[in-house]
Amino acid sequence: MKYTIVKYPDPILSTPCDPVSEFDTAELRQLVDDMFACMYEASGVGLAAPQIGISRRLTVIDCSCGEDPAQKLVLINPEIISRDGSQTGEEGCLSIPGFRANVTRAMNATVRAQDVSGKWFDTTGQELLARAMQHEIDHLNGILFLQHLTPLKRDLFKRKIRKLQRDGEW
Ligand code: NI
Repeated sequence: MKYTIVKYPDPILSTPCDPVSEFDTAELRQLVDDMFACMYEASGVGLAAPQIGISRRLTVIDCSCGEDPAQKLVLINPEIISRDGSQTGEEGCLSIPGFRANVTRAMNATVRAQDVSGKWFDTTGQELLARAMQHEIDHLNGILFLQHLTPLKRDLFKRKIRKLQRDGEW
């Protein structure tokens, strides 16, 4: 694999990313392809550029896990422009492997983003797709799902991760 996934608590994961400013380049297309490959390899439904060490506002999502090409979504410089409803469900993160917890998110989210050519578009997702879009856009703002947990649960996870680090298993 060309890239390895950065794990918590690497500081790049808590740093807001810079916008993508160059479009329609071979480098950007290659990066998007590499991100999909990396995400499928790790069996994830979303991957944000900072998770492979690139602090740029770029994320890829595929809630079909590679089964349906029509569900491949590339969001560049995305912003959530509207959200409504609420859902609570189990969430995980490729940068925090082995840890999952219930997170409450909006049920519906509409995102405005650019594609690899720089063209702006709006897209709306429900349920899992809405959850993935919110989770990935959080990454671009330096926010991990840990920050949506209760302080008690968050501290528990952090203690467990520190122990794994001490034991050389992280
Ligand atoms: Ni994540």
